[in-house]
Amino acid sequence: PGPRAHLHLARRLTTMVSELAHDFGDDFLWGAATAAHQVEGNNTNNDWWRWEQIPGKIADGTRSGLACDHYNRFPEDFAQWRGMGHNAHRLSLEWSRIEPRPGVYDSPAIDHYRQVLGTLLGLGMEPMVTLHHFTNPLWLADIGGWESDEVVERFRLYARHCIDALGDLAHLWVTINEPNVYAYHSYTAGLWPPQVKDFRATTAVLRNMVRGHAAAYREIRESVHGAAAKVGVAQHLRVFQPWRPWSPFDRIAAALPHRAFNHWFLQACTDGWAGFPLGLRHRLPEALGTLDFIGVNYYSRDIVRFTPSAPGELFARTFPAPGRPVSDYGMELYPPGLYRVIRDTWDRYRRPIYITENGVADRVDQFRPAALIGHLAEVARAQREGIDIRGYLHWSSMDNFEWSEGFKMRFGLVAVDFETQERTPRPSAALYSDVIRRNGLAWEQVQNFYPSGLPYFVGGASSSSG
Ligand code: BGC
Repeated sequence: PGPRAHLHLARRLTTMVSELAHDFGDDFLWGAATAAHQVEGNNTNNDWWRWEQIPGKIADGTRSGLACDHYNRFPEDFAQWRGMGHNAHRLSLEWSRIEPRPGVYDSPAIDHYRQVLGTLLGLGMEPMVTLHHFTNPLWLADIGGWESDEVVERFRLYARHCIDALGDLAHLWVTINEPNVYAYHSYTAGLWPPQVKDFRATTAVLRNMVRGHAAAYREIRESVHGAAAKVGVAQHLRVFQPWRPWSPFDRIAAALPHRAFNHWFLQACTDGWAGFPLGLRHRLPEALGTLDFIGVNYYSRDIVRFTPSAPGELFARTFPAPGRPVSDYGMELYPPGLYRVIRDTWDRYRRPIYITENGVADRVDQFRPAALIGHLAEVARAQREGIDIRGYLHWSSMDNFEWSEGFKMRFGLVAVDFETQERTPRPSAALYSDVIRRNGLAWEQVQNFYPSGLPYFVGGASSSSG
């Protein structure tokens, strides 16, 4: 064959590879997520701010301080993300700003969030609003926080205030971000404020979080904006895999956190029972049927090994799978786990799913491109099997204050220089824009970044056609 035939062949191959392997379907939400305390700056009135001031609490010695100064810079930030193609954004409201003292609501704070949500809508970006993302107003922390039963009524009133004041500007509401992570870090591991290490306290906190969620769910759904609102939680889901699949001990050691950490909360909000091991058939009837959707936050897999010498860890040691790539945070990069948690969540609850967080701490952006395409391929795989997934919100829009790790862990599509507040998109931000522009994955992207996912797309229907 002569050069013309070669040219022809090359052209055909190029059109083939630029064809879509998967279309995510109309109305799919594309964007990223942040949380108030991690980005806004100067959240001086909450329990995290107070705790950060104690030397030694934050691994890299930093404090949230001005963070990304997003409280002032949100218009430019949103415009930048819109320019990257995002049609949605997940954010959280800072309770300590809205209700600085019990029962006293601050109208400048509400005006601020009205501007924030109005700016998003003006840009054509759908907001998803979280009411509680780890931080508590100081006054609440001082009356016992989520351990005290009083929190349920307090949270209900706060939710009511937010939905009345902001409900015309947002339809997607997350009551609580990662109740399991919050309860575990703050009350079992004792790593986050108030640094309690007590199993009974953990169960009390989780029960109050279910009750608080249920109360907020009702407030939102029964408000004047309720008909248009959809309410869920963002749950952190991990794959817990036994080290030796043939060992009954390792299997039990992995099954326990799967049940307690991954599913206890979602189960309680589905059937109104607080089950084993965090409550022995304790009824929480108000929680029955309080999830319009489930937000999935997925990051990694843990290998679990039964370890008799670790009673404090419930006889289970967890570690990343040996020999696999890990993020700056030391977490394994395991995209198939996203499919596994989606499938498991769908099979159990049959609720619409949003990926409300998924990302990787990767300062130099060496893993993020492949992680992004890999995880999206796993979302696509689940969609192709008929699972109702309505959006993907990457963690995070930009680098921010990573809780007890400080500013060292860099999760942003956009890098932030915290000295100058300069923003610089990382290469993966452009890759993500490319996916969003097509509303789909190209064969070429799967081939280049996640070849093991190619078989998912051979044959079968994509979400738009099926
Ligand atoms: C939290 C985020 C956090 C992210 C990365 C999630 O558990 O919701 O606030 O920054 O993980 O660690």
